[in-house]
Amino acid sequence: MAIERDGDFVTFSQHIQEQQLRFPNASGQFSWLLSGITLATRMIGSYVRRAGLIDVWGEEGAINIQGEAQKKLDVIANRTLEKTLGYRGNVGIIASEEDNEPRVLHEVEPDDSYIVMFDPLDGSSNIDVNVSVGTIFTIFRNPPEINGAAESVLQPGTEQVAAGYVLYGPSTVLVYTCGNGVHQFTLDPQIGTFLLTRENMQMPDYARSYSVNEAYAGRFPEGYQKYLAWTKQAGEGGFTSRYVGSLVADFHRILVSGGVYLYPPTTEHPDGKLRLMYECNPLAFLAEQAGGAAVDGRGHRIVDCMPTQVHDRTPLVIGGRRNVDEVLRFLEG
Ligand code: AHG
Ligand code: MN
Ligand code: MN
Repeated sequence: MAIERDGDFVTFSQHIQEQQLRFPNASGQFSWLLSGITLATRMIGSYVRRAGLIDVWGEEGAINIQGEAQKKLDVIANRTLEKTLGYRGNVGIIASEEDNEPRVLHEVEPDDSYIVMFDPLDGSSNIDVNVSVGTIFTIFRNPPEINGAAESVLQPGTEQVAAGYVLYGPSTVLVYTCGNGVHQFTLDPQIGTFLLTRENMQMPDYARSYSVNEAYAGRFPEGYQKYLAWTKQAGEGGFTSRYVGSLVADFHRILVSGGVYLYPPTTEHPDGKLRLMYECNPLAFLAEQAGGAAVDGRGHRIVDCMPTQVHDRTPLVIGGRRNVDEVLRFLEG
């Protein structure tokens, strides 16, 4: 059931207004920006729900900057976000997994203007087989000195103002943080509005569940291999394994039910596959806000990593605090 306050449901925009009252520095412009993201994700969700009925299965025929074949829905989702954010005059710069370079949307004053980065469709290889996919986003302020889009986006995750994702699953959920806890909203399709369904989410500290593409295990560094071998012998009850192959869905399960997600370095991909700026940073911000942890397995919190370019990749270990510590003991030992 949606959470009620004074007998009324709480919509996403009401929640943002409440946050703004608590944080006088956040202006009304910020909720205008976020409404662009919710509009875009409602539109993307409507394409996802009609996959198979409208022409969104399969590949677009282009290869993106990551060297990955773009799916039709990658392109549609990207264009939808670009368009809705284009109407928000306070978004100075956008950066997307699907674009080669960050782009200046509007010439803005640095004060009270933002950079939005996103993975328009995460897990897009799952779209043709009707498995959950999502949109991940993160928001930074424009730096006081704007030195062009490519340079302005190079900020560590600790500078994130807000971050979140929308998961197009059996229901469509929006999870976000502005640095004041993690809150979940569920899209009520009857009225087309996101309603509060979980407030101040806390990730379980520990659960015997891991999520990794174990087919690559032979190509992981030794510490990861030892951890995975240990989970098989861990006695009492042992571990269970779950892997959707859409990061956003695997993360959401861990946020709600606990466990740990790993995308280690492999011999072919020494920095793993996941992108620091618009996949790992937003989820790391959410994980830490929910009492969990997110590290690169090389001695750094994800949010402390300084990007060198917008499409940087990083290994990722994310989940319950004790789960992450347990993995790190194998990596360090
Ligand atoms: P994207 O669809 O945005 O390119 O991201 C795919 C990512 C992520 O969602 C998922 O966890 C991971 O790729 C799966 O990779 P493997 O197929 O290597 O396991
Ligand atoms: Mn992705
Ligand atoms: Mn993607």
